[in-house]
Amino acid sequence: PEIIIVKNEDEAGELYAQRVADLIKANPKTVLGLATGSSPLAAYQHLAKKVEDEHIDVSQVRGFALDEYAGLDPQHPQSYSSTITRTVVEPLGLDPDLVHVPNGNLDTIKDAGREYDEAIEAAGGVDLQILGIGTDGHIGFNEPGSSLASGTRIKTLAEQTRIDNARFFDGDINQVPTHCITQGIGTILKARQLVLLAFGANKAEAIEETCEGGISAFCPASALQLHPHATVIIDEAAASRLR
Ligand code: F6R
Repeated sequence: PEIIIVKNEDEAGELYAQRVADLIKANPKTVLGLATGSSPLAAYQHLAKKVEDEHIDVSQVRGFALDEYAGLDPQHPQSYSSTITRTVVEPLGLDPDLVHVPNGNLDTIKDAGREYDEAIEAAGGVDLQILGIGTDGHIGFNEPGSSLASGTRIKTLAEQTRIDNARFFDGDINQVPTHCITQGIGTILKARQLVLLAFGANKAEAIEETCEGGISAFCPASALQLHPHATVIIDEAAASRLR
């Protein structure tokens, strides 16, 4: 992937916002791939500001989120549906009917993955997918060992991920769902453009493996090496192990 080293999250956010703004100006029906987590937050803020400052029409912009907990009420404040509404849909002023999050309802989850991939395809595919990365190299909820060709599907959450995310559930791991539905690595690779953001020394090892290690299911983000238009935007600390 192309690697851009920036001073901080703000500079990365500005780069992302500029790219997305250019896409939307060229095509008002741009399809954005969205991520939750802390890494994209500054990017969304910069984009929201740009949309406002430059009066960009986002009324037809569409969005598809990466993942969702399984068996958690979408109205729950920690569901990714609620999170995307709070961090993306509302600040940018997107039409909520045009922004989709995988459906984690356990009654219908068997078909939900295939239907989600079909919906992305029916929308013409994702134009730009923003990604964060886990310290173990995961993208979406594709933990190490996930097939590089995978489509959207139900997955069991890794124990470490449930421990990490307990902070959002009163610090109680028992409240953290055990399963999720996530875009597959194959789904993510179909986006026309990928932008992965990572900040801080705790991401340095995962970034080294992603950019300079072999392509392997043991570092799901290393699949970016297979993509013709992938950009990794990182700070000095996250870049510290690169050659
Ligand atoms: C988010 C997601 C995750 C995060 C990753 C990094 O939808 O699927 O892969 O991107 O866990 O999280 P942060 O950005 O909080 O370090």
